[in-house]
Amino acid sequence: MRRVALAAAAVTAAGWVQAGEVEVLHWWTSGGEAKAAAALKQQLQAQGHTWKDFAVAGGGGDNAMTVLKSRVVSGNPPAAAQIKGPSLQEWAAEGVLANIDDVAKANQWDSLLPKVVADVMKYKGSYIAVPVNVHRVNWLWINPEAFKKAGAKVPTNWDEFFAAAEALKKAGIIPVAHGGQNWQDFTTFESVALGVGGGDFYKKALVQLDDATIKGPTMTKVLETFRRIKGYTDKNAPGRDWNLATAMVIKGEAGMQLMGDWAKGEFLAAGKVPGKDFVCTHAPGTAQAFTFNVDSFAMFKLRDESKIKAQKDLAAAIMSPQFQEVFNLNKGSIPVRLNMDLSKFDDCAKLSAKDFVQTAKSGGLVPSIAHGMAVPSAAQGAMQDVVSQFWNDDRMTVQQAQERLARAAKTR
Ligand code: BGC
Repeated sequence: MRRVALAAAAVTAAGWVQAGEVEVLHWWTSGGEAKAAAALKQQLQAQGHTWKDFAVAGGGGDNAMTVLKSRVVSGNPPAAAQIKGPSLQEWAAEGVLANIDDVAKANQWDSLLPKVVADVMKYKGSYIAVPVNVHRVNWLWINPEAFKKAGAKVPTNWDEFFAAAEALKKAGIIPVAHGGQNWQDFTTFESVALGVGGGDFYKKALVQLDDATIKGPTMTKVLETFRRIKGYTDKNAPGRDWNLATAMVIKGEAGMQLMGDWAKGEFLAAGKVPGKDFVCTHAPGTAQAFTFNVDSFAMFKLRDESKIKAQKDLAAAIMSPQFQEVFNLNKGSIPVRLNMDLSKFDDCAKLSAKDFVQTAKSGGLVPSIAHGMAVPSAAQGAMQDVVSQFWNDDRMTVQQAQERLARAAKTR
């Protein structure tokens, strides 16, 4: 009798008896992103569950968040949604997220995750989300062939960056590949803020949102530098998706792009080899810093037992070493799970992993604002709007931008 009961339980654990459907909202639709998302789908299907794809195109996830809100408001949330940083707390406070402490305890997440990350995944001490990876935002991607043609040198600071941009321009190559959404403008802006102002300035101005620092002389320099970059982008940038900008660097139409390491996913998906076909280097002046962007999935409260089972299996699968490896190899990020074997990862990822640990100790580890890691969503949105207006409207003075940015930072 006992043996029969045990066998039935084992079958259940393997997912045969309670196979369920899991609907996952995400915005991973570019070449590299889609490959990484497919790894998640395969992992879940291997457990006998059905994957219902809820992909909402649009880099940075702004479109996805709008669609998610309407689904949740109508009482029909997906099982899991790509939600990050402080937004997790905002969603949990609405009472719509599920407690997944049982999965976390059974799999020892507390000892497998950096504490700073685990804390973000918890609401009032309980896990409501599971992290996938660590993306680094302060990267500069370079086409070495284009640089060679232009006689340009890989820049380490902003003076060198503009020297390289000038050389590329003279050689008839678009110096900087850029796209046209607010989050892309802010991704560039925060790398400039970090490179020009340093880590302490970054934290004071963009994390603590200190009024005097936002209005101060360092921010003036940051905005001037930021505006100068625009002169090296092409006229078709407005409206362009980030991955199309990366494609310009891949093809050598453009020399460089300031973008997080999801761009590496695009180079890899195009069959390019790091160190040979493309170069990853720190955004100018940011070698001692690391802007982090952790992707995570929030789990929504569900009623159907088989769907809950599938949801919990998804959460457990995401943190498994197999998944962390294959997903991050495709995504361009590094595993969030500690003590992983990185032998299959390239030098960009290895550098990222080393710098993540080192900057955590030195204080150079800072959250990305553009990617929702630090600032409440209302203030983030308002600040992004100001930065993009400044980027797009040459009539706005630096001083006006500083005043508007300080006002936007107070949005609640
Ligand atoms: C996400 C990445 C994604 C990128 C572009 C970021 O906010 O964290 O996973 O690849 O947006 O879509």
